[in-house]
Amino acid sequence: MKVALGIGCDRGTPLATLARAVDEALAMAGLHRGQVSSVGSITLKADETGLLALAAQAGWPLHFYPATQLAEVVVPNPSETVRRHTGSPSVSEAAALLAAGTTEASALCIEKHRLRGDDGRNATVSVARVMPRAAIPPCVANTDPARCFTAAEREAVQSLMQVRRDMRHFTAGAQVAEDVRARLQAALLAAPSVGLMQPLRVLRITDPALRERLAATVDEERMRTAQAMGPRAAEFLALKVEGVRECAELWALVLAPDDGTLFGRRTLASEMAWCSAGAAVQNLWLAARAENLGLGWVSLFEPGDLRRLLSLPVGAAPLGLLCIGPVDRFYETPMLIQQQWRQARPVSAVFTENSWEPSWNTGSCATPEHLPLG
Ligand SMILES: Cc1cc2nc3c(=O)[nH]c(=O)nc-3n(C[C@H](O)[C@H](O)[C@H](O)COP(=O)(O)O)c2cc1C
Repeated sequence: MKVALGIGCDRGTPLATLARAVDEALAMAGLHRGQVSSVGSITLKADETGLLALAAQAGWPLHFYPATQLAEVVVPNPSETVRRHTGSPSVSEAAALLAAGTTEASALCIEKHRLRGDDGRNATVSVARVMPRAAIPPCVANTDPARCFTAAEREAVQSLMQVRRDMRHFTAGAQVAEDVRARLQAALLAAPSVGLMQPLRVLRITDPALRERLAATVDEERMRTAQAMGPRAAEFLALKVEGVRECAELWALVLAPDDGTLFGRRTLASEMAWCSAGAAVQNLWLAARAENLGLGWVSLFEPGDLRRLLSLPVGAAPLGLLCIGPVDRFYETPMLIQQQWRQARPVSAVFTENSWEPSWNTGSCATPEHLPLG
């Protein structure tokens, strides 16, 4: 059996105290260190030296979760004191479950083992069974095709769509756990696509040097876009338009070379492929928000630069760089509205009946981009 550990501790808890707490907790469950597959804790502890040393020494991958994400996990022993200090009523139990790829409290084999070290510092360790690979839900647990959604679930979906944002500010140094990534991938693959063409390909960028080269390309295009903005150039430059360097995950989106799918594409072949890619990204966008992760689509780059940097074959088209990861807080409204760049259209400016609305000819319902608001 493989397990994941969740660890909470006082600031400055030494390695020795943490190691003792972990070994005691494992022994209580009849387990040993070789069965630990990963360790979870709260983002606040991303610089906790004892914890980092323990994980490095034991060779355990370490995942940090924001307080908002931990707070959503229902645990057997929530604590008001822990909530006051960290923003989440549970650190070790919730982090152990998330690191184990589940939110089922029954996966906890040790709920909370607390140790006060000789140094006076407290460490708390929880142990959770890792779900077998096949049992990790590919997207959601319930895939019953006849599923009937409740009013509360409907409300949750509406809420998800309303609070989804394009994010450019990310929590630096954070990570996305493997099981979360698996659910995001599942969301992408569950999207509709013309003729079931599934034309989108994703290149996960894990090479820091490549990430930096991509970021530099975006910087260059940002300057070129600013020049093209004319009187609004300075205002545009004041906007944050990407989080390529800070985000936990950087995914390059590429439209695959056309596979010749005819179904639904005889007349609008390239448009329908592009729309299918967009539909997949929207699934991902919502799934990321449901995981309490931010996602930002960055389209400021020269396609040729990305083709070269990613060694794309002829016919493949770069569509975007997706910045994904924990954020300190989500924007309350689209950032472009917050920053007075543009206003959103009301329903009446988007829906009509039976025939084209003549006032749309000039785009007069939109806030023109070349004019500042107000
Ligand atoms: C295809 C596409 C490309 C985008 N490219 C960028 C980009 O390069 N930089 C950026 O800051 N936002 C980009 N955005 C985000 C939009 O600006 C954002 O969706 C819009 O302002 C509405 O905000 P919201 O997503 O928070 O509702 C892109 C969005 C889409 C759909």
